[in-house]
Formats: sequence, C-alpha cells, structure tokens
Amino acid sequence: MGTYQRFPISLVRGKGCWVWDNNGKKYLDAVAGIATCSLGHSDNVLRRSLSHQLNKIQHVSNLYKIPEQEALAKWLVEHSCTDKVFFCNSGAEANEAAIKLARKYGNYKRGIEHPIILTAEESFHGRTLAALSATGQPKYHKGFEPLVDGFQFFKYNNWESFNSLLQRLEADGPKVAAVLIEPIQGEGGVIPGNKVFFSRLREACNKHQILLILDEVQTGMGRSGSWWGYEQLGIEPDLFCLAKGLGGGHAIGALLVKEFANIFKPGDHASTFGGNPFACTAALTVASEIKRRGLLNKTIQNGILLNKELNLIKKQFSANFKEVRGLGLIQGLVIREESNLTAQSIVKDALKQQLLVVPAGPKVIRIVPPLVINSREIKEIVKRLKKTIVNQIN
Ligand SMILES: Cc1ncc(COP(=O)(O)O)c(C=O)c1O
Repeated sequence: MGTYQRFPISLVRGKGCWVWDNNGKKYLDAVAGIATCSLGHSDNVLRRSLSHQLNKIQHVSNLYKIPEQEALAKWLVEHSCTDKVFFCNSGAEANEAAIKLARKYGNYKRGIEHPIILTAEESFHGRTLAALSATGQPKYHKGFEPLVDGFQFFKYNNWESFNSLLQRLEADGPKVAAVLIEPIQGEGGVIPGNKVFFSRLREACNKHQILLILDEVQTGMGRSGSWWGYEQLGIEPDLFCLAKGLGGGHAIGALLVKEFANIFKPGDHASTFGGNPFACTAALTVASEIKRRGLLNKTIQNGILLNKELNLIKKQFSANFKEVRGLGLIQGLVIREESNLTAQSIVKDALKQQLLVVPAGPKVIRIVPPLVINSREIKEIVKRLKKTIVNQIN
C-alpha cells in the first residue's frame, strides 16, 4: 500500500551479521530487522529448534494449555522482576495490553473514572491507535485524529516537566493510572534514560500508587547489555513490554506484570496467535543461546568498542557530528542540527558501501546489529560508515 519508503534492494539470504540481495551482493547488517534478529540470520541452533517445532506442532489456540508458552513465561518471570506474562505478536500489541491493564487498574484500584496515562515527548510506542496516541511525536498523529483520549506528555529525562504535570493532574484527587516510558528512547533518537530521573520517577509512582510501565520493545532481551534496560537504570517497573528481539526475528510480543498489578480476569484480553508453540520456541531458543554464548557480556564489550569507534568518527568530522549515545548494541551517531547531512541520506548512501544502518529521527544514525556480532565486524561497520560520510561531505 506504499506505507514504506523502501530502499531499492531485495534481501533474499542471510548468515550471521551478513545478508545478500537478489543479485548476490553482500551487505553488513547493522539493522538486524530493526533490533530484532538478535542471533543474526539463519542461526544454526534457531533453525534446528524451529524445524523440530514445525515437525511437532505449529499453532494451537489459547483455549488450551501450551507447554512451550508455559516454559517461556517461566523463563521470563525467573529472569525479571515480574510474576505473570501475557503473550501477543508485536510491540504495539504489547503496549495496547499494558494500556488496557493500566486503565482497568486506574478504574478499580484508584477509583478513577477516566484514567490518564503519562508518556514522554519524542517517545515511540507503535502504530495501533492507542499506542500511536501514547507516542509523543505529533508527526505520527497527523491525519489520524481523533486519537485515543487519556494520554498526556512530559519531557523525557526532565523531572520538572514530569513532576509539574503529575502535581497538576493529581491536585484534586487521583487522575493518573500509569506512566509508560522507554528506558532508552529508540525511534526518538537513541536517548538513554537518566538514572536520577528514573529513580525519582519510581519514587513518585510508588507514592501515588501509579503503575510504572516500561516499553522495552527495543531495549529488552539483551540489547542494552543486560536482559532488560531497566537493570541499567537501577529501578524495577511494575509492568514491561517486549517484542522485537524476543523472538530473534519471529513475531512475538509480551506484557510482563508484577502480581499486585495483575488485574486482568478471564475474557479481559486475548490474542489468537499470541504465544503459540512456534513463536515461544523461537523465544526460548533465543534466551538459551544468549545465555550459552555469553552474549550479554559480549554486548557490553562490543557496545563499548562501537561507541569508541563512533566517537573517532565524531571527532574527525566534528563540524557535522555532535554526539555518540547509547547503551550496549543500540548506539546512535548524532548529526549536528546545522549540518547539511541527514540520517536518511547517510543511510541511503551506506548501501553503496554495502552497509545497512537505520535512522532514528532526522539527525541520528542508529546502529543495532545482531548481538552475535564480533569486534572485527564492528570495526567493519565503522569503516564503511566512515567511507559513506567522506563521500557525503566531498
Ligand atoms: C519502543 C518501541 N515500542 C513499540 C514499538 C512498536 O513495535 P511493533 O512494530 O512490533 O508494533 C517499537 C517499534 O519500533 C518500539 O521501538
């Protein structure tokens, strides 16, 4: 339907961090399906476990017990601060589930007739109507009004902005059900959360009995160098949302919740495909392979290397680049506002160097390679990116 401005290449094959187009041209993939193919492409272990699963059973309804789903839920709660899991198929859907749960919580637990959810400016929570309405970027709203009611926005990492909004809304009694926020803003420009801000946010949520929901769709499942981005911030959410890296390239999303906030009853929410045996086997395999191959630690080390190498580019072309920011293997190279360079033009030109990178807004080049990447490949990303920049500047 023309909803995507596609680049003119067809990717037909992949292995590890490399992909090939239909003409046999080989590209280094620092996009990974946008922070999704954590084990890279065509991973042997993932291929084997999914083939095995396909030979057993692919899909059954949530009307029945699903052992693979139970095993994945068990793994997720054992490795996080939460107690219960709802499975769906995407990030937007996980956020939709969180929004519904937060509204019910506001209604039942705080006695609010029209509960409000606070979210950040420049956030990104997905394209379905409620997730879109929660997204603090007016450019995505345009043409789709009326939006879903009940969201108000504060400035990310800005305590004054958050606190004054909260105080104003709660002045005459409870109005706010939840805060929905990314630990690192991804689409908004790779902006890591500030520890002090998040710790004050956590305290304020406790004080007002407001749910703290983290959108870990892009950051979860090891991308930041810990299983969950919130570990990097030194806080625990009441709920958090996953998708992208969870299935390593297979559609699965999840809402994880602490027991006290689990207010859903049978019939409150559902998904036909959510948590089917195939998707859950993918996620279980991704989880065990990240652990077996020590990828969390490697993500930290490779993230440090990538950040350091990108900083050399920033230094060399300081008239055009102002900052490198990120955590683990989500890193952004930030172009100066006054520079003629745009993220889109660099991403497009990088194709000539057989490199895949993705913009995060108009002025940030986002680098989110598979977690299986090695130091040689990291250096190759930076080498190709540098060549692209030299070509753009000249
Ligand atoms: C933080 C965040 N939340 C939600 C979404 C939406 O996920 P999906 O495209 O799977 O619906 C994205 C996608 O980029 C995201 O980065």
